[in-house]
Amino acid sequence: MTTAEATRTGEAKLAHDDDAVDLPVVTGTEGESAVDIGHLRAETGLITLDPGYGNTGSCTSAITFLDGEQGILRYRGYPIEQLAERSTFLEVAYLLIYGELPTRAELDGFIDEVTRHTLIREEMRHFFDSFPTDAHPMAVLAAGTVSLSTFYPDAQQIFDPVAVEITIKRLIAKLPTLAAWSFKKAIGQPYVYPNNDLGYSANLLHMMFSVPSEEYEVNEDVAKALDLLLILHADHEQNCSASTVRMVGSSHANLYASISAGISALWGPLHGGANEAVINTLERIVADGGNVQKYVDRAKDPDDSFRLAGFGHRVYKNFDPRARIIKAAADRVLRATGADDQLFEVAQRLEEVALHDEYFVERKLYPNVDFYSGLIYRAIGFPKNMFTNCFAIGRLPGWIAQWKEMIESRETKIARPRQVYVGAAEREYVSIEQR
Ligand code: SDX
Repeated sequence: MTTAEATRTGEAKLAHDDDAVDLPVVTGTEGESAVDIGHLRAETGLITLDPGYGNTGSCTSAITFLDGEQGILRYRGYPIEQLAERSTFLEVAYLLIYGELPTRAELDGFIDEVTRHTLIREEMRHFFDSFPTDAHPMAVLAAGTVSLSTFYPDAQQIFDPVAVEITIKRLIAKLPTLAAWSFKKAIGQPYVYPNNDLGYSANLLHMMFSVPSEEYEVNEDVAKALDLLLILHADHEQNCSASTVRMVGSSHANLYASISAGISALWGPLHGGANEAVINTLERIVADGGNVQKYVDRAKDPDDSFRLAGFGHRVYKNFDPRARIIKAAADRVLRATGADDQLFEVAQRLEEVALHDEYFVERKLYPNVDFYSGLIYRAIGFPKNMFTNCFAIGRLPGWIAQWKEMIESRETKIARPRQVYVGAAEREYVSIEQR
């Protein structure tokens, strides 16, 4: 699959001192335009400076389109609302990675291959034993993922389509097993092997919550809710962790190593770790008598480092379309599981207060994907420290698609940003006796 190129649609003039240079302007499928600065330094000696890359495109991509002002999110052109309503996680994974919705035969083949790779090498049982019981599951998942490369050296052949394909299937198949086994190790229960008769999300529930001493019946509503969450987390264009996967992959590191780096980036509370932080905040508000205004005021206080996890987004300056879908699903899951909905009630009040507060309105801070997702994971029975593992399992196909597009793209070079140096000018070394 070739990556569509952006079309040259004009020029931007950059005047500097008494120089001026015309820079190409390129435009994508949805009318987004960018100044192509690929030759800026060669032609002017200038570089651009954009900490956090809020104004900088790192690549062209045909995978996901999002419009932060309109609250639009599409995977390969399909609106997230339709995929959430009508698709399944493995079908969405296929769509993101290969670019088209699969035929029935293609999907069955993909599911069959993933299903056949859900076991991890038996030696890895000892891998989990080397961690303390309170190890954060994201540390175990990142380490476990890169460790897979030691069992499957063919992953180093990153330009061999056959090696890449089996690596993709192994990753999608084994991440839930790694996640579930890190949880079982933490709670001192026996590891539960995957059951190939179960669907992908049902298998994760089975490995997480069943025990050898009794029958475990997967709740279909819960499995469906988990599958929906995985769909909603599957990709999000050039977010922090996807950009990390691209950057690590651009050095020609193998896919296991690139995904492991993405997992580490996702762990941060400003990114995927926010879903765990949201529940911590809601629990604090409940313990503190339910006073949401107090926490909204703290989030607004420039002298208080407290931020409202689950609110705000670098790109969405409107509702995160995923948050709307998850909020509706949270209501359904809480009813299906009979879970305590006190936190849900506090979350809804918090949202209501914040969305009518000038500080949030002015800064266009809306609930993001993490604001309600933790309530569903919690209702399903995941412990808080497993929430970001669930995010990583959902995001995996997106990371794979981004890595594959990057590796296959003619425009890819090793990612190596420049800087503006503001340190000491040249100076002589001083021996320690003279210091
Ligand atoms: C994800 O990029 C993606 O696509 C990510 C993601 C994906 O699917 O991959 O969507 C997943 O990571 C969602 C975001 C999860 N993180 C959180 O919920 C953490 C809380 N949110 C913030 O930390 C913040 O909103 C970010 C990190 C998400 C975005 O930060 P930006 O774009 O750098 O914005 P900023 O920090 O410059 O904030 C702008 C203003 C600041 O106030 P002023 O300095 O202008 O006075 O808004 C304020 C911030 O202080 N602000 C908040 C706030 N978020 C921003 N104030 C209180 N609470 C918050 N949550």
